[in-house]
Amino acid sequence: MKIIMLGAPGAGKGTQAQMIASEKGIPHISTGDIFRANIKEGTDLGKEAKTYMDQGKLVPDELTVRILLDRVAKDDCKNGYVLDGFPRTIPQANVLDEELAKLNDHVDFAINVDVPDENIISRMSGRRACPKCGATYHVKHVPPKKEGICDKCGSELVLRDDDKPETVKKRLGVYHEQTQPLIEYYTGKGILRTVDGTVDPKDVYAAINEILAEV
Ligand code: AP5
Ligand code: MG
Repeated sequence: MKIIMLGAPGAGKGTQAQMIASEKGIPHISTGDIFRANIKEGTDLGKEAKTYMDQGKLVPDELTVRILLDRVAKDDCKNGYVLDGFPRTIPQANVLDEELAKLNDHVDFAINVDVPDENIISRMSGRRACPKCGATYHVKHVPPKKEGICDKCGSELVLRDDDKPETVKKRLGVYHEQTQPLIEYYTGKGILRTVDGTVDPKDVYAAINEILAEV
């Protein structure tokens, strides 16, 4: 099964993608996590991506597409995957569709996690992320078992560099301009499904699970 998670920054794409991936036994692929891992390792890719990410801008399509296509070509993607944060532009969506069509394949669902802008900024300030495995928490809504420590791998949790309120506002602007048009794109293909992202994460997941049962 191939699933795309759509939604504003902080809508909960990563939180839900993690749950889907572990329930369905398919990889969770986040382009943001791939970029952050490269930044941490100090690679050339990381250095380039960081200049865009820190400004709340999108990393150029060409670079992002190359990384994503490399990742989905790996063996663990044979039974499907959940994409979190890709595609983010119409050209990215076109490339994905074209590449899948070459393999006689297609995306099953694009799940839009709907959260109004007003909720986003407060959510982001409470987010804590694991720099090692990419797991995401919230100090109030989704706390780790031990404060400041990742449940999954025991690493120390951090605040993301791009979660400052000014950068979050810019990311929201970029989302509305460049990513929101994908809602219409996938509606046109008949695979868009929208879930209310303002309720408890478990309830968001229950709604997604019903959708996934359609296939
Ligand atoms: P990326 O890492 O994808 O960031 P984003 O889209 O801005 O989304 P976030 O990861 O911030 O939010 P999320 O929706 O995953 O929410 P989360 O589950 O963490 O991208 C970062 C940057 O990389 C981009 O700005 C861009 O520069 C670049 N990039 C990445 N992909 C790209 C692409 N394809 N093309 C070009 N550039 C690209 O949840 C947020 C918080 O809320 C957490 O604290 C969580 O615990 C909490 N929470 C989650 N669900 C709930 C709930 N239901 N109720 C209450 N709290 C909740
Ligand atoms: Mg995320």
